[in-house]
Formats: sequence, C-alpha cells, structure tokens
Amino acid sequence: MDDVILETALAVPRYARGKVRDMYDLGEHLLIVTTDRISAFDVVLPMGIPAKGRVLNQLSAFWFRRIGHLIPNHLIATDVTAYPAELQNDRELLAGRSMLVHKAERIDAECVVRGYLAGSGWRDYVRTGEVCGHALPPGLQESVELPEPIFTPATKAETGHDENISRAELASSIGTELAAQLEAESIAIYEFGRAEAQKAGLIVADTKFEFGLYEGELMLIDEAFTPDSSRYWDTDVYAPGRPQPSYDKEFVREWLRQSGWNMEPPAPMLPDDIVQKTSEKYLEALHRVTAIPQTH
Ligand SMILES: Nc1ncnc2c1ncn2[C@@H]1O[C@H](COP(=O)(O)OP(=O)(O)OP(=O)(O)O)[C@@H](O)[C@H]1O
Ligand SMILES: [Mg+2]
Repeated sequence: MDDVILETALAVPRYARGKVRDMYDLGEHLLIVTTDRISAFDVVLPMGIPAKGRVLNQLSAFWFRRIGHLIPNHLIATDVTAYPAELQNDRELLAGRSMLVHKAERIDAECVVRGYLAGSGWRDYVRTGEVCGHALPPGLQESVELPEPIFTPATKAETGHDENISRAELASSIGTELAAQLEAESIAIYEFGRAEAQKAGLIVADTKFEFGLYEGELMLIDEAFTPDSSRYWDTDVYAPGRPQPSYDKEFVREWLRQSGWNMEPPAPMLPDDIVQKTSEKYLEALHRVTAIPQTH
C-alpha cells in the first residue's frame, strides 16, 4: 500500500492550500498535488485515506482527456518528467497524484448540475418544493431521476459551507451572459459524463464544476467527475425512495454522525476499518470508471 500523504512541501512557491489539494505556483502554470486528506462536513480529518489522492488525480485526468472535445480544460500534463526541473527531486511523491495545469482566473461559482434528487437538492425540495429556483413537480421521491438535469449553482465560500443560490443570483453576481454560458457548458459536460459512466453501470447523480477565464476564454478547471465532486451510484443497487450508497465518503459520514462529534474542528480519528473500506471504495470507483471504453 502506498504511503499516506497528508502534507507536501515542494521546492516551488505555494499558490494555495485547499482542504484536499496543495497548489503550487509555477508562473504561468500551476501544479496541483492531490493529497490523501479527506474532509467531511467541511472539516479536514486528522488522518488520510490510502490511495485517495491518486484515485482523485487519475479520475480527473481521465475525464479531462475524455471531455476535451466539449470545452478547453486546464490539464497540460500528468507525466512528471514533463514538469519543471525544480520538481524532479520529488518525482516519486508527485507521480500519479499531480497534474500540471494552466493558471486561470477563477470564476467564483460552484457550477452544480443535478440529474437526480439527492443531498442538499433533496433537502431544499422537501422544504420548498424547489431546488435553487427550479420548481419541480410535487410528490417526488428521494433519489429519483429528474425530468431533465438542472443547474443549481452555489457560492464558493472562503470559509464554511457553500450556499445554494438561484440562477438569478448567480447572474447578478457574475453577469447574465456568463451565467448562461456556465449553465449551458455545465449541463453539456454533465450529460456527456453521465452517458459515459452509464456504460460502466454507474449513475452520476450530480456533479460540480469550476470554471476560469484563460486568455479571455472560458476554461474548465479544478477537478472533473471525482467522487469528491460527484455522486456516483451503482446502477445495480439503485432504488429511489431512499438515500443511495455512493462511491465516496459514505462510511466516513455515517461513522462520524453516530460518533457524537459536534461537527466542529477538530474531527475525531476514524477507526482503521472505516479508513480501509473508504480507500477500497475510491479504488473501485477508479477501476470502474477507467474501464469505460472510448467510443467517440
Ligand atoms: N486552473 C486553475 N486555476 C486557478 N485556480 C484553480 C485551478 N484549478 C483549481 N483551482 C482552485 O484551486 C483550489 C483547489 O483546492 P481544493 O479544491 O483542495 O480546495 P477546497 O478546500 O475545496 O477549497 P475551495 O472551496 O476553494 O475549492 C480551489 O480553490 C480551486 O478553485
Ligand atoms: Mg475544491
């Protein structure tokens, strides 16, 4: 089993440190290093999940390559030998868990697309009959497939929880034209990814994209269809009317909920069997997705 990487310190300037990824500034480019950190309920846990960083990085790379015909994205290289000389001493650490990308001017919006009614979308629907301003038919069950995918943006909160906003609110914060463009692109990418995943018996219930501007053009950045950004369900066990098991932090969230933790940092350590089962789930997601044959 690989080492669990929680922190990195490379010989290049740091650009940002997210909950999961460490970003380094290479001038025109960024280096994204995906660690094995895991967050739940917006708090980073004290231990890592073996293989998680590699799985997320490899899934993103797979999807960025697969959706390149739809919209330009930030991926430049994942082959460490193509990285700048200052990084060559860290080749072993970086192999499989990093990517070189274009530095974009981030648009501060979480571009969420939902094809199924789950998570905060389900909770909003139960409370209001709507999800981010989309009125939905009454009487829908949890986890049902929606008549068509809906765009349900959220703010990118500097700290704390991202908040769902209406499309009108997004339009007033970034401009009507850009908001409409983000919506159309997000739905197109989601629909393509969802159809691809279906070939592997997976449902992409919902997903989140981030976009940036690069040389004046819209570019897909961040991550693509990872279990951290998307709800993957197994077609074989899917049944509406209840929450679905998903390829991500389900075991972690469940364990934390029953642990009595108050959801404020610091989070408790997870038991080894939960860590192990979670690691296996991430690896299974990678194997299933990367087995999708290429047909276009
Ligand atoms: N090509 C890019 N250019 C500029 N910024 C990027 C690019 N790709 C990703 N980012 C930003 O880098 C950060 C990646 O870190 P990570 O996703 O681990 O952070 P996070 O804790 O989720 O924080 P955030 O809420 O900001 O996403 C994000 O803030 C993301 O918006
Ligand atoms: Mg993020």
